[in-house]
Amino acid sequence: MGYVAVDKLKQGMVLDESVYDINSRLLLSKGQKISQNHVRVLKIWGVSRVSVIGKEKEEDEETPSVDDKNTKLIKESINVLYKNADLTNPIFKQIYISALVHRLKGTFGSLPEQTPKNRMGGTDLKKPEKIRRQIDVTDIKLPEAPTVISELNQVIDDPLTTSNDVAQVVNKSPSLAAMLLKIVNSAYYGFPSKIDRISRAVTIIGTKEISGLALGICVMQAFKDIPEGVLNIKAFMRHSLVCGMISRILAANNNMPQTEQMFVSGLLHDIGKLIVHKYYPNHAKACMELGASSDRSIFQTEKMVLGLNHQQIAKLLLSKWKLPNEIITNIIYHHEPGKAPDPKKSGIIHIADIISHGLGIGSSGERSIPKVDHPLVDEIVNSRDSIKLVIRQIVHQFGPMDAIFSD
Ligand SMILES: [Fe+2]
Ligand SMILES: [Fe+2]
Repeated sequence: MGYVAVDKLKQGMVLDESVYDINSRLLLSKGQKISQNHVRVLKIWGVSRVSVIGKEKEEDEETPSVDDKNTKLIKESINVLYKNADLTNPIFKQIYISALVHRLKGTFGSLPEQTPKNRMGGTDLKKPEKIRRQIDVTDIKLPEAPTVISELNQVIDDPLTTSNDVAQVVNKSPSLAAMLLKIVNSAYYGFPSKIDRISRAVTIIGTKEISGLALGICVMQAFKDIPEGVLNIKAFMRHSLVCGMISRILAANNNMPQTEQMFVSGLLHDIGKLIVHKYYPNHAKACMELGASSDRSIFQTEKMVLGLNHQQIAKLLLSKWKLPNEIITNIIYHHEPGKAPDPKKSGIIHIADIISHGLGIGSSGERSIPKVDHPLVDEIVNSRDSIKLVIRQIVHQFGPMDAIFSD
């Protein structure tokens, strides 16, 4: 037996293992002869590969030709990202190979801007020192929660809430309703028929889950109009979205029931950076400059420049906006999951962040892959095959989701 990518399945091939979707529902049974319709079903449900009889060897991703004129340039850009990564680790080696393959194929669009220097108009290495001023927690400016978030919190807190109550709140914001419908109708969920009403989405996916998704989208929407500065906001939104998607996939692969909560935690993991960029743009620039010149992660330079890192700032904002405590805790520890009360949940956001950086989908302003908690990576992803599967799922699911924050 061997695994074959769904795109390469041929009619008449026979399944050697039953196929389940991300939520462990049986899609096709072992022994099923593959038809065109089956391929369509597998794609709809986000399955990227299946095991078939008679395939001795797993079909691998095409390795790009070394003669390709783009290969050298792309390799150079990836090497900057991976300069601190341990490529003897098979999981990181696989992410690196996949990044190379998909950049050559252009799967995730154009390359992210990895070097903030060219947005900073020349790096004055002394400047971060000049600007360094510790900001007290009470100095941090936090906007009031948008009305829709307060209303969502009210319906979430009410044990008698019905699907119509949630739908009524969501429908007050046409852009929120449209985004939610876009998400639930994407291949990411893979429902076979179109969901055209929020009340139906609530019934199918669950009141708590849809409310959580709506909260996450509202928080991101509140910051999506930050003017272009040293941070490319579109690239930032892509980084956040793909981190949420990978978090959800990893949660499902690790049999965690709270997959939507993990999506929202991943989506919002770097929200503290947006507060810094919105209210303290000079400090934000100094954090990035110091990161670029000293090879430190931004969460470390934030501590030096601001006295607080973006995880702590996220906690201030999300607590004020009354987001669920579990989400806030997952976010606080996303760079140091070993210190979290539940290391596995924060560890999933940590790994999703690293995979997003590693694949180069979007950008959060970091120049290289953040410091890795290796034992947790090995526990959560555990093999080269499982990381390959996660990346294949993202390749199938990312395209339709990419437009979510771009309107
Ligand atoms: Fe972060
Ligand atoms: Fe991030």
